[in-house]
Amino acid sequence: MDSITQILHHSITPIQMMNRRVQPELLDELSANDPRAIRSRRDLRRLNALMGNAGVIARAVLQASGGRPPRQLVDLGAGDGSFTLRLAKRLRLTWPNVEVTLVDRQDIVSADTRREFEALSWGARTVAADVFDWLTRATDARVDLVTANLFLHHFADPALGRLLELVSNRTNCFAVCEPRRYPTALRVSQWLWLLGCNSVTRHDAVASVRAGFDGPELSALWPANGSWRLREEAVGLFSHRFVAQRLNGAQITPGLTRHGGQL
Ligand SMILES: C[S@@+](CC[C@H](N)C(=O)[O-])C[C@H]1O[C@@H](n2cnc3c(N)ncnc32)[C@H](O)[C@@H]1O
Repeated sequence: MDSITQILHHSITPIQMMNRRVQPELLDELSANDPRAIRSRRDLRRLNALMGNAGVIARAVLQASGGRPPRQLVDLGAGDGSFTLRLAKRLRLTWPNVEVTLVDRQDIVSADTRREFEALSWGARTVAADVFDWLTRATDARVDLVTANLFLHHFADPALGRLLELVSNRTNCFAVCEPRRYPTALRVSQWLWLLGCNSVTRHDAVASVRAGFDGPELSALWPANGSWRLREEAVGLFSHRFVAQRLNGAQITPGLTRHGGQL
C-alpha cells in the first residue's frame, strides 16, 4: 500500500467499521480465577469509574422513578457486583432498603462486596445463571427495576431482541448503559495500554465499542407488548443509555412513546 492509500485507509476504516459487529469477548471465555480475568475485572472497575456509568444509570432511574423508590432491582450480567455496588452507593440516600439480585454466569461476587451492600442496608443476593435461562424460568412477580451495564452489547440483534422481550415481561423499568459505537470511542479504545490495561481488557474494549450502540437501535428492538416510554441517547464521550419505562402512572419523562408497537 503506498502512503497516500495508507492515510486514506486509516482515515476511513473506522467509519466503515461502524456497523454493529458482535465478536466473542475474552473475559467471557476465561475462568473466573484466571489471573488475566482477575486483572481485567480490575481494569473494568477503573473503566466504569472513568466512564461514570453508575452516574449515567443513577440519574436516569431517579428521574424515571418519579420519587417512588423501587423495592427490587435486578442487575443483569452483574459480573463481580462492583458496578451495582457503585450504583447502590449513589442511590441509597434516596432509596433505602432495596433488594438487589445480581445475575451473572460467573459466581464472582466477593464476601467484601456482599458486606458493603449490607452496610448500605441493601440486601443483595447473587444468582449464577445464564440470563436467558433465569429470565425464562423466573416465575415471581415483576421486579420494579432491571439494570444492565456493559452487557447488552454481548448479543447480536436476534438474541438481543429475545432478551429485551424477556426483560419487558419481567419489569416496569429497564435502564442500561452500553458502549457508544462511533469512531472516536473506537480510537480511544485502541489506546487503553496507556492506562495499563491488560491484553484481555484491550481486546474486549475494542470488541465492545464495535458491538456497542448508536442512535435508536435498542428502541427499535424493544418489543411491542404494552405502552412504554423509551429514551435512548449518547451520554458523554463513551456511553450509550437506554431507558424503557412502562406507562403505568409513574412520572413521565420526555422521549419516544411506544404503544403496541408504534414509535
Ligand atoms: C463486560 S462484563 C460487565 C460486568 C458488570 N456489569 C460491570 O459493569 O462491571 C459482562 C458480564 O456479562 C456476563 N455474561 C455474559 N454473557 C452472559 C449470559 N448469557 N448470562 C449471564 N451473564 C453473562 C459475563 O460473565 C460478565 O461478567
